Amino acid sequence: MCGIFGFVGKRTDAAVMAVEGLKSLEYRGYDSWGVAWKEGDHLSHKKEIGKISGVDGHSLCDVSSLAIGHTRWATHGGVTRENAHPQFNEDKTIAVVHNGIFENYQQLRSELRTKGHTFTSDTDTEVAPHLIEEYLKETGDFAHAVRLACKRFTGRYAILAVHAASETLVAARTGSPLIIGVGEGGYFIASDTPAFQAHTRTVQYLDDGEMVITNGKNILFSDIETGGERTKREIEIPVSEAPSDKGDFAHFMLKEIMDQKESIARAVNQSEQEIETIAEAIRNAKGTFLVGCGTAGKACMAAEYFFSVVAEHHVNFAPASEFKLYHHFLKKESLLIVVSQSGETADVLEAMQVAKSKGAKVLSIVNVKGSSIDRASDYTLCINAGPERAVASTKALTGQLAVLLLIAYALVGRLKEGKKLLLETASMINDMLNPRYVERLTQLADRIKRHENLYIIGKSWNYPMALESAIKIQEVSYIHAEGFAGGELKHGPIALIEDGTPCIVLAGRDEVMPDILSNAVQLRARGALIIGVSPEPNEIFDEWIRVPDAASAQAIVNIIPIQVLAYFLAVQRGKDPDMPRNLAKSVTVK
Ligand code: AGP
Repeated sequence: MCGIFGFVGKRTDAAVMAVEGLKSLEYRGYDSWGVAWKEGDHLSHKKEIGKISGVDGHSLCDVSSLAIGHTRWATHGGVTRENAHPQFNEDKTIAVVHNGIFENYQQLRSELRTKGHTFTSDTDTEVAPHLIEEYLKETGDFAHAVRLACKRFTGRYAILAVHAASETLVAARTGSPLIIGVGEGGYFIASDTPAFQAHTRTVQYLDDGEMVITNGKNILFSDIETGGERTKREIEIPVSEAPSDKGDFAHFMLKEIMDQKESIARAVNQSEQEIETIAEAIRNAKGTFLVGCGTAGKACMAAEYFFSVVAEHHVNFAPASEFKLYHHFLKKESLLIVVSQSGETADVLEAMQVAKSKGAKVLSIVNVKGSSIDRASDYTLCINAGPERAVASTKALTGQLAVLLLIAYALVGRLKEGKKLLLETASMINDMLNPRYVERLTQLADRIKRHENLYIIGKSWNYPMALESAIKIQEVSYIHAEGFAGGELKHGPIALIEDGTPCIVLAGRDEVMPDILSNAVQLRARGALIIGVSPEPNEIFDEWIRVPDAASAQAIVNIIPIQVLAYFLAVQRGKDPDMPRNLAKSVTVK
């Protein structure tokens, strides 16, 4: 979702670095971009719809030491140049970039209108420079004016503000991430570290309710509410894989699918002590809740089955966006387990706040150390999948599933057995993802790519994987795909089946195999083209995608061919699987 970049210091290529910084945040998903820089005593800017990848920052400005930039994912107002950030006050002396939502922007707009302000965009963001201007008139101090404006905003947000007559960069956050990069020639402020990793790996984290003021030489952290000073540690972040490195692969999505040859084993090779500690916390909790969004949510849903089948232990899944409605069930002895690849998902952060307000402990399973969710958790387990850049989550999902299954085994004293099973599964996946297998899936994509509807069924842990299959196919190929519990077909969805409708059947060699095959028979009787994903063939399958028999880890192996299929459906339909329309990698708004 939206990306933020800011720099102030003694370097004169601030605008150039802003363009490059925004390019490295492209993976988050966006539809327009903009940069504002200080040139002499005024602010210049450039805003465009579309991609920043082909832009040369030198064409903007080579002589600026202060710049802010933004990639926008539209929420309030369409994708237009006027709605792109930075947003300005009327005389363009104050510029603001913003992530998140000012929930009370309508009220602030009407208040500012009565004071004579006019607005040129449909954004909630535009109230910020106007409000700051009002407080600047009152106080004569830019940073103080930003603080007073921030005290008026409700909702989750992160902003960067600059003023034409000041050499300072002012930033504030409540709910959306902002990280400071401590560089040799000045300070960077960004929504994610790749934006400045080419310049520094020394960071300081801004926490919720805090603001920071810097002129490139000095830096001051303070509390938005009280203005009281805060102290911050400097932290060295590890050297990560270059964000733009997709090797010989045409797309990040394919690279990340192939990364699963190693990433699952990395997720499994956790400290056994840590897994045991988590199992103990679940054992002792009076009610364990699992929440996540989208794909991560499907991992949580699969974990309900892992905990039921492997450990006979009851846990409750809720999509993070629904979790606050469960607050009556929470007490201080409850445990919330949140699952998130990015560690920045707003709905998950809100669920955590709900749990914390009841005194419950929060355990997070993330892929990004140092993310907002990691830092707000009582305990964090990292799946170690490595950077995931494609919007479609693939290797993060299998890492999450592996860790959750491992915890289920640990809960009943069978950690070693679970680990052995998962490492064997990882090795079978390594063998499975060979060129012949990929070619087979390319051919299958070719056979079904012209269909506009596609259905996937599963039972037990394959049911959440059917839902996940639908997400994967929808988001990259734009085919209308839906997943169902196999047994639900006869209660309605079967009416959708026509002659030749492709239906994918996810199966395992387990006690529910006869049930899911009989659901497949019902589909076939209505003319469906049956694509079986299963360790064994069956006469009911028109197409058989063979997967290894992985027992209770079957969900992990079954989803992988669907990821590959979704990828080729996208490519063969002429879509860019890495940058699907309307979607963002980090969903930092509710
Ligand atoms: C997955 O392919 C999606 N793009 C999306 O559903 C994603 O899983 C969801 O937004 C949650 O993200 P997170 O794991 O970073 O919290």
